[in-house]
Amino acid sequence: MHSLDTSMVLEHVTGAKITAATIRNMKARGQKIPALTAYDFPMTRLVDEASIPLILVGDSLGMVVLGYPDTTRVTMPEMEHHVRAAARAKPHGLLVADLPYHSYQTVDSALGNALSLVAAGAEAVKAEGGREIVPQISAIIDSGIPFLGHLGMLPQHVLEEGGYHVKGRSEAEHQALLADAQALVDAGAFAVVLELVAPHVARELTESLPIPTIGIGSGPDCDGQILVTPDLLGMLPWYNLKHVKPKLNAAEQMRLVVEEWKRSVVNGAK
Ligand code: KIV
Repeated sequence: MHSLDTSMVLEHVTGAKITAATIRNMKARGQKIPALTAYDFPMTRLVDEASIPLILVGDSLGMVVLGYPDTTRVTMPEMEHHVRAAARAKPHGLLVADLPYHSYQTVDSALGNALSLVAAGAEAVKAEGGREIVPQISAIIDSGIPFLGHLGMLPQHVLEEGGYHVKGRSEAEHQALLADAQALVDAGAFAVVLELVAPHVARELTESLPIPTIGIGSGPDCDGQILVTPDLLGMLPWYNLKHVKPKLNAAEQMRLVVEEWKRSVVNGAK
């Protein structure tokens, strides 16, 4: 029933593969980095066909796909399942996977779980934190797996922190962000996501770090921007997000199409 259009397949397979080095070098070339999340084959394929250079199988899948209240319940088997689905799209963009909560508490678990995500099809991994996870990051990078950092508001800590708060407004938080970012650079991260970082601090980090900053809710001055794709498409009308205005009302359009089709069936149309 679903046959692939071969001309589209051919178009898709031409074009250079993006690596972690490509992403890192985009900063030196002055190229902005658009990044999006994807959690399955069709979404990865569509995002890749739009030439997005970095595609993240984020643990945000816990909220936007699995219906959990936050990312803390996402497990390694769930991440591997979705990474395998996304990897089947064979994207040109770099496919990065999140190490979920409590999967990188020790060097051994971090390395073992990073290797499992790569076995599932990830080409790089991301974990949340700075100085406190440097031994884990070093072990991952030493094994040949590119590492993407994540600083600022760390969603895996939402329960301890009691919500999603902007980071870097106080001088202590500002200094902690600078030290954590430098630790990620020294450990060999190829880029760093800055989530809900006060925009002036995100700008300072972008200007001072040799690796790209990829912001989410951190102002316009990062080297790149990342969004949770269902937020961009308006697929989740139940959440109220400050940092993203949906560019499509996919939820409403889907409801309308489903209702129209239902009416046609109920009314006996063929
Ligand atoms: O899990 C995720 O989707 C993320 C992005 C918000 C950066 O970490």
